[in-house]
Amino acid sequence: MPNRSAPEEAKRGNEVNMSHFYFVRHGQTVWNVENKICGATDSPLTDKGHEQARVTGRILRDKIDHGEIHIDEILTSPLSRAYDTAVEISRIIQVPVQAEPRLTEQNFGKWEGTARNGVEFAKAKENFVDSYGGGESMMRLAQRIYNLIDDIRKEPEKTYLLVAHNGISRMIESYFRDMSNEEFAAFGIKNAEVVEYQFDGIVPDCRADYDLLCRQLQSLMEGVASDVTILSNAAALLYQTLPKLNWAGFYIASGDELMLGPFQGKTACVRIPRGTGVCGAAAEKDRTVVVENIHEFAGHIACDRDSRSEIVIPVHLDGRLYGVLDVDSPVLNRFRSADREGLERFVSVLEEGLISE
Ligand code: SME
Repeated sequence: MPNRSAPEEAKRGNEVNMSHFYFVRHGQTVWNVENKICGATDSPLTDKGHEQARVTGRILRDKIDHGEIHIDEILTSPLSRAYDTAVEISRIIQVPVQAEPRLTEQNFGKWEGTARNGVEFAKAKENFVDSYGGGESMMRLAQRIYNLIDDIRKEPEKTYLLVAHNGISRMIESYFRDMSNEEFAAFGIKNAEVVEYQFDGIVPDCRADYDLLCRQLQSLMEGVASDVTILSNAAALLYQTLPKLNWAGFYIASGDELMLGPFQGKTACVRIPRGTGVCGAAAEKDRTVVVENIHEFAGHIACDRDSRSEIVIPVHLDGRLYGVLDVDSPVLNRFRSADREGLERFVSVLEEGLISE
């Protein structure tokens, strides 16, 4: 499926992320067949349109089953041609659907129901402040669609599938790349086609004060002669301090395995054989492993389906592997060199306090 990335000028502020969303245009409608302009008019799907939606649903299902993509929620235009497309897809991929009024097609005013490929209509679409006699101008449309994309961008943990219309696809495309007026007016995608849009290259502001974290850990360990107590507070300290985490904790080396130790987050797998998963790889290689995108790490063990990136750092005691610190994030590429360096220092401080019971 085509994949578009945000250009530098579309990357606003520092809250943005490497998240993405998918866009699908509705299936074929009665007015598509009759070659009529269909904006706010509610022209239903044809049988072929329903089948196109199911084909797209099956393509997405296949990718989900192979772990290639993940979708949390479908947002759809309330107009029946999009809503019915979304419902067909939802039944196949088993993801909930919610109507999002901002995805409603542009109202083309006096052009509604006229010939789709008319030269005059193509020209009219290049007028951005004209509401086509009772319709909605391009400027107004841009306002609601850009606001919606900005909102989606603030939820990097969630991956949405948007189901809507060609007028909406054109506006979304313009959020991600420059286009001439002519190119913008002529832009469209096929019925039931899927496009992926990525907010890449931009990471949420996840800076952390690792000096402070190390000092806090040191004081939490003072006078404590219990590894369980120390590891519990270390996991809690990381989890409550570092932004955008969904799991932080320890696996303790035990023979050829790693056993779940103190942690914060969802319940996790109890045993990890050495060499298996990210934790097992870090233990076996005895070095830090940073995974930018867990879907691209062969053998990753998924404990929490929200996880997108991960860092695992070996912990030592008396020159031997004691276990690993495992930290997961719902944001792609969350762990940068500063985090690696900071967390490795955090582990060095921790190692000073461990006694092995
Ligand atoms: N993802 C880890 C397993 C542990 S959970 O993330 C808590 C791995 O692949 O080793």
